[in-house]
Amino acid sequence: MHLHVQNLSVRYPRRHGWQWWRGRARDTGVHAVRNVTFRVDGARIVSIVGESGSGKTSIGRALLKLAPVASGKILCDGTDTALLTTRQFHPWRKHMQMVFQDSGLSLNPRHTTGTILSEPLEIHFPALTSGERRERVRTLLRKVGLAPELSARYPHELSGGQRQRVNIARALAVEPGLIICDEPVAALDMAAQAQVVSLLRRLQDETGFSCLFISHDLALVEQLSHHVLVMHNGEIVDSGPPRTLFTHPRHARTRALIDAVPHL
Ligand SMILES: Nc1ncnc2c1ncn2[C@@H]1O[C@H](COP(=O)(O)OP(=O)(O)OP(=O)(O)O)[C@@H](O)[C@H]1O
Ligand SMILES: [Mg+2]
Repeated sequence: MHLHVQNLSVRYPRRHGWQWWRGRARDTGVHAVRNVTFRVDGARIVSIVGESGSGKTSIGRALLKLAPVASGKILCDGTDTALLTTRQFHPWRKHMQMVFQDSGLSLNPRHTTGTILSEPLEIHFPALTSGERRERVRTLLRKVGLAPELSARYPHELSGGQRQRVNIARALAVEPGLIICDEPVAALDMAAQAQVVSLLRRLQDETGFSCLFISHDLALVEQLSHHVLVMHNGEIVDSGPPRTLFTHPRHARTRALIDAVPHL
């Protein structure tokens, strides 16, 4: 999928009661993202880096209508989804999947892996028979490097790395054009991180989805991404291919992020 974000601003409103002397309610909302423009072209991995609170997650959530868009355009293959109502957005929802940091929280603890992976198939591919669905679940598990037997397990019976693989499998189930990964490996140990990242890379080569990868780990970002955006205070302050960006940082914020990683 081609994603083209133009002048996107995200603002979380927070209203205090009516103030008669102002003639309106006082609004002390948070401007989390200001005037951000970038594109993710087909089958590419674009990373967003930046310190905590710089607005990375807000961008990801705004793309899925989970955060309030104050202004700007979100062009998905040419259609401005920022203008769509939640209902009109529904068919697009399938094309954009999100994988979160906390692999445990995003999986229903009362469902087995098999059920978790069948659910999106039932919703988005209602024509499949239950046998075909079971076969697809097995294929998905194999794709992310998990044994088919794991479909009988509950999330708490899996390791963190395995749970994150289940999350990725669930995102892949609906054959999305764009996967938004928000710190997908931050909660994993080094070995599991490396495995999940190379898995993402391989799956992208095979399947050709576009990926928006949110992370504050520059070493990972350098390995993984085709293009990097540096955020500070809700704005993109620097961008470029990782090699160029990290060897010739133009912005003080990029340099500060690099200095925080000794071996880069
Ligand atoms: N639901 C919300 N309501 C109000 N303000 C919010 C909300 N979510 C985030 N914010 C604010 O928006 C700003 C950007 O937050 P965001 O979560 O996008 O940052 P981030 O770059 O993802 O940070 P981190 O690296 O810690 O995850 C912060 O100032 C945050 O306090
Ligand atoms: Mg975040």
